[in-house]
Amino acid sequence: MDVIAELEDAVSGAAARIDGAGTIEELDKVESALLGKSSAVGAARRAMGGLDPSERPGVGARLNEVTSAIETRIAQRRVTLAQLEERHRLTADRIDVTLEAVSFPHGSLHLIQQTIDEVVDIFVGLGYQMASGPEAELGWYNFDALNTPPTHPSRLESDTMYLDYGDPDDELLLRTQTSPVQVRWMEQHQPPVYVVVPGKVYRQETTDATHLPVFHQIEGLTVDEAIRFSDLKGTLAHFSRAFFGPRTEVRLRPHFFPFTEPSAELDVSCFSCDGGVAGCRVCGGAGWLEMLGCGMVDPNVLAAVGYDPETLSGFAFGMGVERMAMVRHGINDIRHLVDNDLRFLRQF
Ligand code: DAH
Repeated sequence: MDVIAELEDAVSGAAARIDGAGTIEELDKVESALLGKSSAVGAARRAMGGLDPSERPGVGARLNEVTSAIETRIAQRRVTLAQLEERHRLTADRIDVTLEAVSFPHGSLHLIQQTIDEVVDIFVGLGYQMASGPEAELGWYNFDALNTPPTHPSRLESDTMYLDYGDPDDELLLRTQTSPVQVRWMEQHQPPVYVVVPGKVYRQETTDATHLPVFHQIEGLTVDEAIRFSDLKGTLAHFSRAFFGPRTEVRLRPHFFPFTEPSAELDVSCFSCDGGVAGCRVCGGAGWLEMLGCGMVDPNVLAAVGYDPETLSGFAFGMGVERMAMVRHGINDIRHLVDNDLRFLRQF
């Protein structure tokens, strides 16, 4: 075959090969196969020197024509492939990291739960266990087993919400205190007893700045051999300092509860004014804050669950969770805790 024939043969398939290249890499290979040293074009260029001078202009012109036609077609294909490749990249890369992400706001524990957790943690640190009991409770557990006589005014329908009222033997009510869990726990466990019981309680109450018909208490019960009043005071003093700060003083005032004897109320020194600054916004100048009810477990309560009051003794306490949170954070209206206003809740 002569040079021209070989060139024309190569050229005839060139367009199809160029357009068949699917990537720029493939196109580079096609280009060197069509125009490189070992291509028909390269061979023709090398053969030029050996041609008869009369043939040279004709072959030379055809060679230039062919070369530039191939180059042009390769350049066009290169542009097309570059566009295709970019389009591919864009589809693959569709996620636009510059768009703001959909945010899932994460909530936080309600102040009441935070307060419960904090109080329970302090007692767990002393070796106490956490327990719970039913909110719909029998009259027996809420009152009788707690040494509360049938005539006690808190048993009236005006104070207690009854689910079933009338027959004293199977009165069903919404518990008015967490104290019934003392009895339930002792029925199910042998001493020693070291438990704290957080939970909801219910009372027939008109809502105002300091009262809600549904609120929370944390009960505590200790029963062991030779538990004394000093253990009660020491334990509650430790708790008060852990919760309100190390400088907190405590004092016990005589009080009455049916299920403890003697009974007391525990006050803590005002953590804001440190005791008696006239007009203090936390204690109002009294210097003391009423914190909780407590006392030595009445022997009748121990006997009601089959514990021996001769060898065992104990102390109990009960505190209002909302009150603890209000005093601690200077909240002046208990209703803030149930209004579900995020402007309030987000502060804690
Ligand atoms: N249950 C009492 C109340 O709701 C609080 C209380 C007082 C609990 C003295 C106790 C206690 O365990 O010993 O007012």
